Amino acid sequence: MLGNPQSLGSAVVEAFRTHSRGADIQLVVPDDTSPLPAGAVGIDFSDPDAVIRWRGDIFPEGSTPVGVAVINLLPMLDSFQQSGGGDAKASDRLTTWMLNILRSFEAPMRQAASGPGAVFLNVTSLNGRMGFDVAAPVPVVQASSVGMSKTASKEWPGVQVKNLDLAFSLPATAQVEQILVELRAGDSLVEVGVDERGRWRVTGQATNALAQPVAPLPFDQHSVILITGGANGVTAAVAERMAEECQPRLVLVGRSPLPIPEPADSAALVDIGPLRTYLIQSMRSTDPTVKPAAIERRLQRILKDREIAQRLAAIRKAGSEVEYHAVDVRDSVAFGALIESLYAKHGRIDGVIHGAGVVEDRLIRDKSQESFSRVYHTKVHSADVLAQKLDSANVKFFVLFSSVSGRLGTAGQVDYSAANEYLNKLAAHLDHHWPGRVVAINWGPWDGGMVTEELKRLYRKQNVGLIGQVEGADCLMNELRRADDSSPEVLIAAGDAQALENYAGLKI
Ligand SMILES: NC(=O)c1ccc[n+]([C@@H]2O[C@H](COP(=O)([O-])OP(=O)(O)OC[C@H]3O[C@@H](n4cnc5c(N)ncnc54)[C@H](OP(=O)(O)O)[C@@H]3O)[C@@H](O)[C@H]2O)c1
Repeated sequence: MLGNPQSLGSAVVEAFRTHSRGADIQLVVPDDTSPLPAGAVGIDFSDPDAVIRWRGDIFPEGSTPVGVAVINLLPMLDSFQQSGGGDAKASDRLTTWMLNILRSFEAPMRQAASGPGAVFLNVTSLNGRMGFDVAAPVPVVQASSVGMSKTASKEWPGVQVKNLDLAFSLPATAQVEQILVELRAGDSLVEVGVDERGRWRVTGQATNALAQPVAPLPFDQHSVILITGGANGVTAAVAERMAEECQPRLVLVGRSPLPIPEPADSAALVDIGPLRTYLIQSMRSTDPTVKPAAIERRLQRILKDREIAQRLAAIRKAGSEVEYHAVDVRDSVAFGALIESLYAKHGRIDGVIHGAGVVEDRLIRDKSQESFSRVYHTKVHSADVLAQKLDSANVKFFVLFSSVSGRLGTAGQVDYSAANEYLNKLAAHLDHHWPGRVVAINWGPWDGGMVTEELKRLYRKQNVGLIGQVEGADCLMNELRRADDSSPEVLIAAGDAQALENYAGLKI
């Protein structure tokens, strides 16, 4: 049992002792908890070694597997209850704790799963309905723990991983009872919400994302649209489509500097094969010890620069004014200053597409804190800056590019699932308060962008559909036309539900 918010932990321990005789239960709380609840152990969850040592005390190496249940109440601590997002420190704290806990409990949980059984129950208090459909503010910081648990559910076969979202207003006795109910439920639900009205699960409502609504697009040639992650990849495909539709002013943000014109001899080599051969020869002639990885990096840089130059040219050709800003959106100060400068220069930002994102896929047990932070901060800290700096009263749409990895969890993407689930709940929170549409689109894989040729081959083999760039842009335009839609979280994917499950369960 991890965490003791409002003594819920102590009450669950009590109830467990009464109802589950013979089972050992330990209450473990952050080491700065004061006063320490009776019988509890204090741990610094941010120290991976401390967490591993403590795990080792409970499950010494080589011990006989016993049934294991981890009940994680840490997301419900007061410091993670703040309404909305915006608390980067709290968000980093919770994800660091979660990563350390998941990494160190994987082995005993998986061992127990093949014998007596294992349950990981992550408990949140988003609003009792997983952040959906309720006027109450959503404590968005907790959302990342849900994304991380969903990834564990994909990586740990046999372990029953479940997220239980309890309405904060539920009486303590009902909360305790529900935790015990879910531990014993033995069902396959990965997300369950409970509030005064009952027990909730997430269901989808299928619509044809390619069917064009009659409503007009919420932007025109006077609009200023800010797009992060915008000069290459799928957001650039979307930017180009926006320019073709009605020539708004587009402001694209990426880390890459604006490409300088390519030297004539390499520019003449359009195909990758001859370009690679040329780079091998020319780089080896100046440095015979140059490593293949350095040549590959140079090749990828040239290809990316070409794409950026081509996209910017195509957007201008379609009639849009376009600005490109080389800013790392993880730098909250620089990114915030850019947003302020856009208001000073243009007097308006009418729509935002937040598409900056990176992936560094690794299984939970191999994921380093540094890598987790790179992936997580790119999406999350920048989304928080946007939420704080945008003039919400005058933004007609704020689209957050999320992923099915946030909705379902994906093996190998614990950081990416956490970040995307955060975006999903941030959208749910903001959409309730902002007059314009705020929506997180949980995209399935596209034919392009971060989906490499190697991944495409894997997806095709596993019957995972790919969204074509034209169709993806069509879907986004259609979503923007649905200005009155009240769904803050939308999933768009090619293929059927099975294809999606195949994607989420893919082994890396
Ligand atoms: N492609 C898919 O199948 C797919 C599926 C689901 C969701 N998505 C989402 O769609 C968005 C775009 O993905 P993509 O496929 O187009 O990926 P991509 O080709 O790798 O492009 C990602 C973009 O983000 C920018 N970026 C990354 N880190 C940044 C940072 N710290 N600051 C500023 N810009 C940054 C990159 O530009 P620089 O390198 O120049 O910074 C690049 O333009 C992502 O949020 C992704 O999660 C994509």
